[in-house]
Amino acid sequence: MTIKQALLWADRKLRGTEDPKKSAYFLLKNVIFEDESFILAYPEFLLSKRQELKFRRWILKRQKHLPVWYIAGFIDFYGLTLKVNKNVLIPRPETEVLVEMILSDLCCLSPYPELSKNCHSGLDPESIDCEKRLYKGILKQVQNDGISYFLHSRTGSELGGAGLVLADIGTGSGAIGLSLAKKLPEAKVYAIDISAKAINLAKKNSKINNIQNVVFKKGNLLDPLKEKANIIVANLPYIPTNDLNGLAFDIIHHEPRLALDGGKDGLDIYRQFFIQVTSKIKSGGKIYLEIGENQGEKIRDLALDVFPNANVLLKKDWAGLDRYVVLEM
Ligand SMILES: C[S@@+](CC[C@H](N)C(=O)[O-])C[C@H]1O[C@@H](n2cnc3c(N)ncnc32)[C@H](O)[C@@H]1O
Repeated sequence: MTIKQALLWADRKLRGTEDPKKSAYFLLKNVIFEDESFILAYPEFLLSKRQELKFRRWILKRQKHLPVWYIAGFIDFYGLTLKVNKNVLIPRPETEVLVEMILSDLCCLSPYPELSKNCHSGLDPESIDCEKRLYKGILKQVQNDGISYFLHSRTGSELGGAGLVLADIGTGSGAIGLSLAKKLPEAKVYAIDISAKAINLAKKNSKINNIQNVVFKKGNLLDPLKEKANIIVANLPYIPTNDLNGLAFDIIHHEPRLALDGGKDGLDIYRQFFIQVTSKIKSGGKIYLEIGENQGEKIRDLALDVFPNANVLLKKDWAGLDRYVVLEM
């Protein structure tokens, strides 16, 4: 079977699935370990028998709507390669924005803004108004705590994060916590999930990506966190139970319900989170949450109930929807 024949066969099999062409290219790339330009340039390339069998097997799984990342077994997230399987949510690009937001806030706090330029990808330091935000937030917290830590590693231009404690609640594959830990190698990052299978996978992902500054804990929300954190981030289940059946077939039939179902109005888990979080965040710390597009105002109310003096910011995604909440203590 040639590349051209493989794609024609896949095209027929995947009719009725979402993005059939994209799926076929993605799976083929990962069967022959070549990139898309190779596929386009060499339609007559002959797959080995083994590659052909694997491709057919994968396409038949995709025909049953199994997401391509579960089939291939991995996804790229914020520069990391993460193993994924049916026990964890497939990390979404929107969540990369949350990671970027946290790192860009920390970059702004650097006493050496000129070094911030290379601290992570895609950020134009000019565009984030570092001057105004410099010495706010976390830095205030450093003064309050009387501790001194360096957001910059003393050895290079990467952010170091020494002295910082971060916690990723509902870590799943480890996407958020591991991305932060990689960029802040001197910080201590807790990655917590109620699912033992998710924690096991997140641990594997830390090994694959050579990340050593993460403490993994299985448990309910912030229960396992035994010290206060400077930054708490959470992407917890927020979909109202009655809306689950309206999700795309691929999601509702293959991604774990434990990662999606937020109860009657979608906010059951965030309600519990807010009860617990008051005793787990350092004064002057920050909380970053990913939420559903219509939940901003309700989450703001929940936040102000427990932190009446906090600055609560709703932030938008690329589509202009309120998808993130930032609480500055
Ligand atoms: C929406 S997924 C997010 C996964 C990952 N953080 C990401 O962004 O890709 C929510 C995660 O929260 C976990 N979870 C659900 N209820 C929880 C609870 N009560 N305590 C801790 N984790 C919980 C689920 O197992 C799931 O891994």
